[in-house]
Amino acid sequence: MKKTFLLAPSILSADFSNLGASIRQIEEKGGDVIHIDVMDGHFVPNMTIGPLVVRAIRPLTALPFDVHLMVSDPDSLVDPFIAAGADWITFHSEACVHAHRLITRIKAAGKKAGISIVPSTPLSAITELLPIVDLVLIMTVNPGFGGQEMIESCLEKVRELKKIKQNSDFSYIVSVDGGVNKKTLPLVIDAGTDVVVSGSAFFTGEL
Ligand code: DX5
Ligand code: ZN
Repeated sequence: MKKTFLLAPSILSADFSNLGASIRQIEEKGGDVIHIDVMDGHFVPNMTIGPLVVRAIRPLTALPFDVHLMVSDPDSLVDPFIAAGADWITFHSEACVHAHRLITRIKAAGKKAGISIVPSTPLSAITELLPIVDLVLIMTVNPGFGGQEMIESCLEKVRELKKIKQNSDFSYIVSVDGGVNKKTLPLVIDAGTDVVVSGSAFFTGEL
């Protein structure tokens, strides 16, 4: 069967004592981009990866780095992650008042700019950003941890985004993040997702 989406394995579920081996695994198992979950212990109740780690793994692969900022102050972190080697940078609508400005800044640096919303945020929160954004990341779990169960009702937002795109000249792609596994992948594909993020299921071979 022809793959209709880009696979973005999340290194949140990788072996943090041997990230090089996990990155090789991603390449061997058909990953198209590497999803890097950045958590600050404030926007979400967990802490993960900073720019130093991104810089350290940058020489290990030519795959694009899809950096997902789950942080309260994305404005101050965009530049360090770009300098460390991020290719796509996605931040949360809930964490940024001047999202239009930040998207413009990321794009001016020659990077892909993404906006994300958590399950409790309606699509209407980001309507004004759709003409300029490169990627919309729909969270299908409450962010903070891998291995959670998908909130399937969030996939309605993916369908709506595809519909809006069809009736416009917008160029964003849609990514789904959280709880993707063998059982939920068909639903995610059926909704029309362009990028599928997978952490725990990818690394346990259950995707
Ligand atoms: C959750 C992260 C996800 C996470 C997905 O806060 O944004 O990217 O790694 O992990 P799974 O696929 O295990 O739900
Ligand atoms: Zn993520």
